[in-house]
Amino acid sequence: MPTSLIRDASPAEFIQTYRANADVLCAELSAGLLAPQAVTSPKYLYDALGSKLFEAICELPEYYPTRTEAGIFNAYLGEIAQAAGVGATLIDLGAGNCAKAARLFSTLQPAQYVPVDVSVDFLRDTVGHLRQRFPHIEMTGLGLDFSSALDLPDAVRRDKRLFFYPGSSIGNFTPDEALAFFHRLRAACDTDGGLLIGVDLIKDKAILDAAYDDALGVTAAFNLNLLLHLNQLLGADFNVRDWRHLGFFNLEKSRIEMYLEARADLTVTWPGAQRRFLAGERIHTENSYKYAAQTFVNLLAQAGFGDARLWTDARGWFAVIHARAV
Ligand code: AVJ
Repeated sequence: MPTSLIRDASPAEFIQTYRANADVLCAELSAGLLAPQAVTSPKYLYDALGSKLFEAICELPEYYPTRTEAGIFNAYLGEIAQAAGVGATLIDLGAGNCAKAARLFSTLQPAQYVPVDVSVDFLRDTVGHLRQRFPHIEMTGLGLDFSSALDLPDAVRRDKRLFFYPGSSIGNFTPDEALAFFHRLRAACDTDGGLLIGVDLIKDKAILDAAYDDALGVTAAFNLNLLLHLNQLLGADFNVRDWRHLGFFNLEKSRIEMYLEARADLTVTWPGAQRRFLAGERIHTENSYKYAAQTFVNLLAQAGFGDARLWTDARGWFAVIHARAV
């Protein structure tokens, strides 16, 4: 990703190293759509409507992760804060509306809060509001894409860095990518650092299938909306009605796979390219890996995060894990 450092003149500290580059983005999208197994990055699911549809997903009876994780944080907040330690430099990866972190503030008492997100404009507004609610916490918003590299500017305190990565967003990475990501986090903190992460656990296939293919069709809308986003980004001519949503648990790969499947033979055109899809051909739009708790703890240990403590719900569906840099 192109990185031009833009420092804000506004009083609220905000540093942006991420600029979406339309050419790079279109080349990447085009290559994925033309691959034998057509594929798109899950990040393209989140345009303005996609983000709202994801919020709606979190309210669905079938989609348990969000409320299960929130329940774990509510039930064990004191213990979690004790393990993570007060006075931390709380680095919120993919902060979005910052709501999950804000709920920790009073108990965790971070010395500095550093929300990181690529949705720069959204984050800027959120941080502005958050400063008014928590004037005693130093805040530095970072507009950067941490999925490729994690270059933290000097404005981010070095001591007691606590990386916060809730929501099982880690599931979008393959286990190898997750390991590489943990190595980068480990390299970005000292031995007083740590990681507080939410991870979705392996469970009955029927429960997982329903969570990613709900009765109301909200997840279907979320997935299909990708096509509208592609039309806008790429100037493609996808017709949403020509496609259907698939979301199911692949037991062998321990991951949810989401696809968009062509309902009939069709052709999609965008500037400089064209692709024919036969009926039943698919675009792979997302993976969401599910872990056994111990496998995940081992992965963290491999990257230098040890002394793991784990909190889970009564059904053992989701885990919140704190691990220390060792
Ligand atoms: C935001 C990646 C955690 O994998 O559960 C929800 C995205 N996709 N329903 C997940 C998602 C379909 C979600 N994450």
